[in-house]
Amino acid sequence: MSPVYCALVHHPVVDRGGEEVSTSVTNLDVHDIARSARTYGLRGYFVVSPIEAQYPVVQRILDHWREGSGKNRFPERAEALSIVEISSSVDDAITRVEAREGQPPRLVATSAQSGVGRTSYELEAARLIREPQPTLLLFGTGHGLSESLLRRADTVLEPIQGPTDYNHLSVRAAAAITLDRLLGRNSRPKDPI
Ligand SMILES: C[S@@+](CC[C@H](N)C(=O)[O-])C[C@H]1O[C@@H](n2cnc3c(N)ncnc32)[C@H](O)[C@@H]1O
Repeated sequence: MSPVYCALVHHPVVDRGGEEVSTSVTNLDVHDIARSARTYGLRGYFVVSPIEAQYPVVQRILDHWREGSGKNRFPERAEALSIVEISSSVDDAITRVEAREGQPPRLVATSAQSGVGRTSYELEAARLIREPQPTLLLFGTGHGLSESLLRRADTVLEPIQGPTDYNHLSVRAAAAITLDRLLGRNSRPKDPI
């Protein structure tokens, strides 16, 4: 089984006009994705931002829930937030995974857009069961991961699609659905491919 990590990328991502930008970290993304990551057994959740001015904000959220009154009142939240790390770049997150696991992770990116060569969840779920190489799942903020990051990824998953043409999931919802499709007990492939 591949040890799985995820990263919420605040740079490089694109804005509405397709320009490469850095976005701000939000409290809810730190919290909710940590809870999903812990539920699905991820080894770590990197909040990736090059903006050092954001670090104290994230650290305050982590400290509040990992220590003191937050931890006493909601110990399960402390447990989820214990896997969160602030990271300056995707490369920094890759280096940390490699240091821990002994080999660099495969980069598996997500996108709301369809495109050539997207991989199905079934194939990726089967690979996670089969392969020992670690995996770093990349989720975007703003209007999604930059083209450069999508090109760099080893795999880009097909977009999650509902029965309507409305295609505006929050990254928190998309992350939870992705983790369930790849790692959920009742989503596991019956006959690994
Ligand atoms: C607000 S969305 C950005 C939507 C953007 N238009 C895109 O192409 O990814 C931010 C992130 O949520 C995730 N996401 C949102 N909708 C998704 C979908 N339908 N399928 C897969 N991931 C999705 C992706 O990680 C995306 O980078």
